Amino acid sequence: MIMITKATSTIVMVLVLGVCLGSAQIDNSGAKKDGSIYAELGKVPKKAMARRNPLEGDPEAVAAGEKLFAMHCAECHGDTAEGGRKGPSLRADQVQQATPGTLFWILTNGVVRRGMPVWSKLPEPQRWQIVSYLKSLVPAGSGGAQAGSVLR
Ligand code: HEC
Repeated sequence: MIMITKATSTIVMVLVLGVCLGSAQIDNSGAKKDGSIYAELGKVPKKAMARRNPLEGDPEAVAAGEKLFAMHCAECHGDTAEGGRKGPSLRADQVQQATPGTLFWILTNGVVRRGMPVWSKLPEPQRWQIVSYLKSLVPAGSGGAQAGSVLR
């Protein structure tokens, strides 16, 4: 009797462990899925991430970038970069916290297999102007005044 009980409890323990591991795996894949939209931002080479925007602090660059954005990006990312039918919001924390070099690298290389085109045909200064514009945006949900953003 004792032997059977032991064996039974071992089987129960193995089953419980199996269920735990199984659900842990499901949780993992769920987390991966949630973060995947902006995952490319974390895969940019360190050296590219550290590149500084040569136009930083130039209000004209922001204005020029805004025009370029309307021409090339708004179609997918929405008129004010809040996200559209084809592209995610660029006011999201993941984008706003990315370094200028990271955004420049994404523009240069795209995320083609996920629908984000390559913009290397735009001259470098124009790509930096777009980065300046993106960095001037008020992040989603911050509720800050838009007017102040132009000066950044
Ligand atoms: C044809 C539609 C389309 C156009 C046009 C487009 N994008 Fe995107 N963009 C996307 C999609 C789709 C993603 C999401 C890619 C992903 O899942 O990683 C994306 C992602 C991004 C990201 C975040 C990186 C990431 O991995 O999600 C940035 C930054 C970005 N786009 C900037 C721009 C800028 C700036 C322009 C204009 C020069 C632009 N995009 C034009 C579709 C587009």
